[in-house]
Amino acid sequence: MILSTIVIALWGFISFTTADSSNSTTDAATTSYVPIFQNAIPPALTIGVEQLPNINNDSAVDANVAAKGYSVVNITNTARGLTGILKLKSATNIYGYDFEYLNLTVEYQSEQRLNVHIEPTNLTDVFVLPDELVPKPKIDDDYDFARSDLVFEYDEEDFGFEIVRSSTGETLFSTKGNPLVFSNQFIQFNTTLPQGYAISGLGESIHGSLNEPGLVKTLFANGISNPIDQNDYGVHPVYFDQRYSSNTTHGVFWRSSAPQEVVFEETSLTWRSISGVIDLYFFSGPDPKDVITQYVSQIGLPAMQPYWALGYHQCKWGFETIDDVIDVVDNFKKFDIKLEAMWSDIDYMDSFKDFTNDPYRYPTDKYRKFLDDLHENNQHYVPIFDAGIYVPNPNNATDNDYEPFHLGNETDVFLKNPDGSLYIGSVWPGYTVFPDFLSNNTQEYFNILFKDWYNRLPFDGIWADMNEAASYCVGSCGSGRYFDNPVQRAGYRFSDQNSYPKGFNVSNATEWSSISKSIAATATSTATTISTSSSSSLSIDAKNTLAPGRGNINYPPYAINNMIGNHDLAFRQISPNATHADGTLEYDIHNLFGMLEEKAIYHALLSFRPNKRPFIIGRSTFAGAGKYTGRWGGDNFADYYMMYFSIPQAFAFGSFGLPFFGVDACGFNGNTDMELCSRWMQLASFFPFYRNHNVIKAIPQEPYRWEAVISATKTSMDVRYSLLPYYYTLLQESHVSGMPILRALSWQFPYESTLSGVDNQFFVGDVLIVTPVLEPGVNYTKGVFPGNGDIYYDYYTHERQNFTTGKNETLDAPLGHIPLHIRGGYIIPTQEPGYTTTESRQNPFGLIVALDAKGRASGKLYLDDGESVEVEESLNVDFVASNNKLVGSSFGQFKVDQPLANVTVLGVDSKPEKVLFNNNTAHFDYTNKTIFIVGLDKIVGNGTFNKEFTINW
Ligand code: GLC
Repeated sequence: MILSTIVIALWGFISFTTADSSNSTTDAATTSYVPIFQNAIPPALTIGVEQLPNINNDSAVDANVAAKGYSVVNITNTARGLTGILKLKSATNIYGYDFEYLNLTVEYQSEQRLNVHIEPTNLTDVFVLPDELVPKPKIDDDYDFARSDLVFEYDEEDFGFEIVRSSTGETLFSTKGNPLVFSNQFIQFNTTLPQGYAISGLGESIHGSLNEPGLVKTLFANGISNPIDQNDYGVHPVYFDQRYSSNTTHGVFWRSSAPQEVVFEETSLTWRSISGVIDLYFFSGPDPKDVITQYVSQIGLPAMQPYWALGYHQCKWGFETIDDVIDVVDNFKKFDIKLEAMWSDIDYMDSFKDFTNDPYRYPTDKYRKFLDDLHENNQHYVPIFDAGIYVPNPNNATDNDYEPFHLGNETDVFLKNPDGSLYIGSVWPGYTVFPDFLSNNTQEYFNILFKDWYNRLPFDGIWADMNEAASYCVGSCGSGRYFDNPVQRAGYRFSDQNSYPKGFNVSNATEWSSISKSIAATATSTATTISTSSSSSLSIDAKNTLAPGRGNINYPPYAINNMIGNHDLAFRQISPNATHADGTLEYDIHNLFGMLEEKAIYHALLSFRPNKRPFIIGRSTFAGAGKYTGRWGGDNFADYYMMYFSIPQAFAFGSFGLPFFGVDACGFNGNTDMELCSRWMQLASFFPFYRNHNVIKAIPQEPYRWEAVISATKTSMDVRYSLLPYYYTLLQESHVSGMPILRALSWQFPYESTLSGVDNQFFVGDVLIVTPVLEPGVNYTKGVFPGNGDIYYDYYTHERQNFTTGKNETLDAPLGHIPLHIRGGYIIPTQEPGYTTTESRQNPFGLIVALDAKGRASGKLYLDDGESVEVEESLNVDFVASNNKLVGSSFGQFKVDQPLANVTVLGVDSKPEKVLFNNNTAHFDYTNKTIFIVGLDKIVGNGTFNKEFTINW
């Protein structure tokens, strides 16, 4: 604890246990700050209309029982499958108007993919998802569909279909026996499932890696803090069905942006949506990793991240001044803890307005100098960007000079109400509008504003937050309302934090006197100026009834279980009836908002830095978002259960094509503590995205706050940075194939049914297996080490382990130690860790050669300049070891000056007489059945990986 005492002395005052832990360096100003405890918007605007979700409604009609379904009118074979017409047997109009005729198209699209598409013949009241928003999987023209393992079969009289795997005769998917329901606001089909199924996917929600009977998944983007088993930030309508009976896995993707619901029962799954058409894709696998890559390569391969993204990232909500941020960067250095990127939450903004910085707390000159210094030290900076654009008060001259609103308003890029007026939402700054990514000018609008911002404050990436998109009014806050928006409001929503930002009364002194008077009056006023059919103005009679045309958009007749508030679809997010430039309703594409925003940011960043990989971390994603962004898990909690959930979350996002994933290490909501933070900093160090972040008012949790966390973090950071070449190679593999970086044991060993659902351990690539401690107060952990005769080595001691296949092994794990094992048969590239990734890249390389039972191993390395979008020169090195010999052969033009300095060979039964590097004698030690070959750089000099080399022992 000596170090903790020093830490406290250094800062004068730091509380590790209370919420009030501010460390402001601007004390003079602090004393004059005036906190206002006031909600940002009148409470009446935040109340939705109570909905009773159908799944909680015992008297709700069961469409499977009531509906009569369709029959086949005709079927025509086509070059790639068939087309046909289905006719409604009898209308029941349960949760919308049934469509009388449907077009059925079945298409064999590649050797592993079959598409079943069903849509009404008359598309007047239907939303069909355009290719431009979510690209359709591409058809492989050279493919002969007779080779497909998937067979489509159907029943004519009571239409139902089956997908059968021809190689095993197994039914993978069958709607037979239940009626197809297809109406303007309700689509439903079922599939039978085998007893004891092992199905993963269907996100996003906080859940273990498998979906069990009884679970209901709601797929509707929702900006709420990681609720268990409820809908959350993103939507990924795909599942992976692993069948141990036949050792095969297949995948099913519904290409639909509609709000959806999936009900898991003992031997069936029911899939519903409240808009759109049926556009199902079946992927045949047959191994789990095959299915994932088949899926991801069709929705969009993940963006290649810049090399620096793999470094450590630090954030916190509540760095009140730029000095606070500078202090943190300095402290990392002082404690010699690696820091690659410093992040800013909304604190930097001038009253939470996008594209601004607070002139008083984050003055541009000082801010700019800070960024220049960071860059000088090869470090990076990532600010937050919120989806809502502040609407200034036109009657207040100072407030009204907010250009991002005026430019957008003039170029018509904001979402509208159905009557064509601006859709006004409410987020942190007060009243806001939202960019409409279907408007022709929005990309240019982003290009201009991001470039201007970058020119002032050269950031290195963007954190895209609140992009579900969150809005605190239920429905439009009211078009006329912003005229009485006194001025920007803090919008802090937590009971003890509803304040203007500190210093607001100083930085905005002229406005302050009028605000302080008007605020009380405005806050108590009720919503009288709502100009559109926003949710909260509707009468209770308006809900859950059938309406003509597109139907009842705000209160669809089938109420999905949107978990937030009173289940109103508009609660804390843009209302379903908000209208896009081409007339598209937010209802139909709400689930795409985040991805469309991330795409626009991606292109905006490229517009002024054309060949630099954009670095974006987003909150709301849809299938294909990985092309533009990485993901963090959102607002988790500082608790052990959340640390555990980060593992199934990582598996899910990997399979959704978002391999660059991480969560807020140490926990976001609530106060963390030394033990949790120590365990979590170690676990998170193995996630592709490694960031620590927490909520305002929770205690600071940078790793240097506790002695034990410092030491645990340094240990794990050294491992991570040593493994950077391995992680970068995995990033590139993801980028070209869609293969996740963190892998479930059941993907690695798909035929071992006992591994089904194991999600307290994970593989990094094929080689490293991490077995973290996920509970407090213990000094051990448990894990399984699969494979038949596979060898595992302890990463730290190099010792070969005596694990028994199938046994739950107990591993020593005192605080500060996270068990890490290397699987025999593999070679991983390493590099001596530096303080930053840039420094690490200048250091010598190493190799860890972990031999299998037959003395063999292989591996690879990918390198390039780490930042180009169009990579002109890259280097691939293949390593193969067998018969006491390792050969490295490379192809590609990218020059790597750094030498190979060390090779560690694990699992060598006897001490070799000598070790030769390209026939030159090399120095080595031998202990513990491990050969440590060192000082190779002195023999061959630099650039080892650009030439073929051989090591014999
Ligand atoms: C959202 C983000 C969180 C951030 C906060 C303030 O809750 O998820 O990470 O700190 O907004 O910007």
